Amino acid sequence: MRNVRDLAFDKITVAPSILAADFGSLNAEIKRVTDAGADLLHLDIMDGHFVPNLTMGPPLLKSIRQASDLIFDTHLMISDPLKFSPIFIEAGADHITFHTEAESDPAEVIKVIKSHGATAGLSVKPGTPVEDVYPYLDDIEMVLIMTVEPGFGGQSFMADMMSKITALREEIRRRKLQVHIEVDGGVAASTIESVARAGGNMVVAGTSVFRHPQSAKQGVAELHAASKYL
Ligand code: DX5
Ligand code: ZN
Repeated sequence: MRNVRDLAFDKITVAPSILAADFGSLNAEIKRVTDAGADLLHLDIMDGHFVPNLTMGPPLLKSIRQASDLIFDTHLMISDPLKFSPIFIEAGADHITFHTEAESDPAEVIKVIKSHGATAGLSVKPGTPVEDVYPYLDDIEMVLIMTVEPGFGGQSFMADMMSKITALREEIRRRKLQVHIEVDGGVAASTIESVARAGGNMVVAGTSVFRHPQSAKQGVAELHAASKYL
């Protein structure tokens, strides 16, 4: 069973983002990061409305699902997650993260995700206070902290987001919950230490894994190595 609940909290887990892959050879690219030690696969879904870019839809998910056993960590950067979450789950998503800034009521979206058998995550853009996710922490498996403005891969890491991670990890501890903190945007060997020290235990990595100058395996290993800072 592919479930983010089964992933460890005491080590860094790595979710390569296929946004940085060669879309012309997607199955081979996914195999490349799977063999490199990816713990899950991050799928960035954009609707050209919530963010100024378009990426992939349910049919693509369904196709790659045939060829991969990794947990599909689906990041919806779309305005209407209430409508589309079930469609992505039916196409093969194991986990759905959506944004507090989207138009849907978060409590309703979480309910619909759960009723379709997936796990749920909530994300905040850089300008949104992390406290906005606190009312939902009892009902979700993950919070995704954006360390770039969502919309594009390959941007620079915003170090000033680390205080959000620290505050959130403290809140999760205080309430004795089991919630992963995933960090997304510009995560690389040079930025992972601060993420881990702040309490981020799951990282998205597009450029730093798919386009690592040596190999994807080296990219994943450099991120895993920061487990010691958790
Ligand atoms: C940005 C996406 C990220 C992106 C990360 O909107 O949510 O997942 O693919 O790419 P890198 O790791 O290259 O910053
Ligand atoms: Zn993402």
